[in-house]
Amino acid sequence: MFDIITFLVILFLFAVYCKKLKAHYLTSQNSFITNADEAHKILIDSDLLSRVIPNQRLKKSFQISNPFTNPSEEYRKKFVKVIHKTIKFDDPKWRNFANIALEVVNNERILKTGFIEIVPWIQKITLSVVLRGYLGFDTNIYDVISDIPKIINDLWLKSKEYNNKESNQQSISLLQKYFYNTTSISQTEDNDTNVIKEISKIAQEHLDHFHESPQTTSGFISTADELKTPLNIVLPAYETMWRVLLYAILEIKVREILLTKNNLKMEKNIYLKNINNSIDTFLKNPSDSTLKNNQLNFIVKETLRLYPATRHIHRTLNGKDNTIDVEAIQRDHTVWGDDALCFKPERFENPNASSSASYIPFSIGKMKCIAADKFAPTVAAILISAILSSVDIVDVIENEAIEKYLKNPHLPFENHRLAFDKMIVNVTTRLN
Ligand code: HEM
Ligand SMILES: *[C@@H]1O[C@H](CO)[C@@H](O)[C@H](O)[C@H]1NC(C)=O
Ligand SMILES: *[C@@H]1O[C@H](CO)[C@@H](O)[C@H](O)[C@H]1NC(C)=O
Ligand SMILES: *[C@@H]1O[C@H](CO)[C@@H](O)[C@H](O)[C@H]1NC(C)=O
Ligand SMILES: *[C@@H]1O[C@H](CO)[C@@H](O)[C@H](O)[C@H]1NC(C)=O
Ligand SMILES: *[C@@H]1O[C@H](CO)[C@@H](O)[C@H](O)[C@H]1NC(C)=O
Repeated sequence: MFDIITFLVILFLFAVYCKKLKAHYLTSQNSFITNADEAHKILIDSDLLSRVIPNQRLKKSFQISNPFTNPSEEYRKKFVKVIHKTIKFDDPKWRNFANIALEVVNNERILKTGFIEIVPWIQKITLSVVLRGYLGFDTNIYDVISDIPKIINDLWLKSKEYNNKESNQQSISLLQKYFYNTTSISQTEDNDTNVIKEISKIAQEHLDHFHESPQTTSGFISTADELKTPLNIVLPAYETMWRVLLYAILEIKVREILLTKNNLKMEKNIYLKNINNSIDTFLKNPSDSTLKNNQLNFIVKETLRLYPATRHIHRTLNGKDNTIDVEAIQRDHTVWGDDALCFKPERFENPNASSSASYIPFSIGKMKCIAADKFAPTVAAILISAILSSVDIVDVIENEAIEKYLKNPHLPFENHRLAFDKMIVNVTTRLN
């Protein structure tokens, strides 16, 4: 009798031990890739599933189903096809987009100048412009979007907490109120720009298909709500874009303020010296083809090098997590030189820079960003231009957010979600 109990206790303890061992084994199987060639090999060889597995945290946090979280190749192909079609802008469409961006910044300017928190300000502008200029929402979005960036931010942070068990339902319900029921925000009836309707349509097809052959998505089942949510396209476009805008503004405007507060003068390269002209020229005729011949092109490229909006790219292969450290690769001294940590748009004058194996802000291979070549850089340039042509940033509050940059004003800005949460800048109207 006694022996059986002892045996069972030992068995139980052994089982607990094995479980712990397994957990340890699983979490320690994570390799960090900082070598460009190794990164290329992984990105070229990997398949959709290897991206979808590590992204399940996004599905859980945001209740989305897009090519980042859904393993169906067929769905990805259709999704990508729709986006491809909808991001082909001709000149009038780009002009319209730029006008919307200027209107949004001006609207914000009228609401508020003086000391403002820079991150929510940039997020709100970016989200408004993406929703109106790309996704076809009308001006009513101003009434409802103020809360959205903060909700998305909180959900993103929670998604990174390992083993987070807290329910996100309240935040998700709020987002649903704003987004899932898109009738609450009006959209234009123009079929061309109605990206959300197009995506909902293929999502619906995918749902029908999925019922026929559940094995394609077994273990990654998407609900109809997840397939239909506008967040499936809002997140990839907005989350990357506001970061590009933030870091471009920090390097173009805030860096100089930090230096001035140290009684130092910014040694301006030709790109920063000419920026007003570059912006004026670009806004006269904003499009992907004019961007190519504008210095803003290199400003966007350098922003994406030093501050990649996607800092890490994850691939799970044979049960092992591979984290490609895009930021480390793009800051590698042996490739980019001793000034790798400095913001120098002129390094892209050498065409080798953007084709370098160590420049992968949009990833590479068959799952590379579809907006990489034209759409994303042009949107970034328009956002930067809209802000810098309408308002000026003339001061920064001296608080803990900028303490270390005041001590060392040449330091690269930290590139993570909470780095500039408390940064407050004085925004004034630019008098032309
Ligand atoms: C500067 C801004 C942007 C950056 C830095 C960026 C970065 C990236 C990266 C690194 C990937 C690959 C991720 C991975 O494989 O794990 C990706 C994929 C993707 N991006 Fe972007 N992106 C940007 C803007 C956009 C925009 C504006 C859109 C939509 C209009 C977009 C739509 C997509 C889609 C649909 C994919 C998946 C492509 C596929 O699976 O074939 N991105 N992006
Ligand atoms: C912001 O800067 C402007 C111009 O230097 C100044 O007139 C204004 O008082 C500042 N705003 C605040 C809130 O300090
Ligand atoms: C969305 O709309 C549906 C039907 O109109 C409604 O039942 C649901 O409660 C709405 N959801 C939210 C989060 O508002
Ligand atoms: C949009 O598409 C529908 C059906 O596909 C068509 O009836 C309608 O005329 C189109 N509207 C515009 C503005 O092109
Ligand atoms: C560009 O415009 C800003 C804002 O008006 C001004 O402060 C700055 O001196 C201008 N830069 C150059 C190089 O003209
Ligand atoms: C660019 O790369 C090519 C081939 O890798 C090399 O031959 C060429 O010298 C490089 N050009 C510059 C300007 O570095």
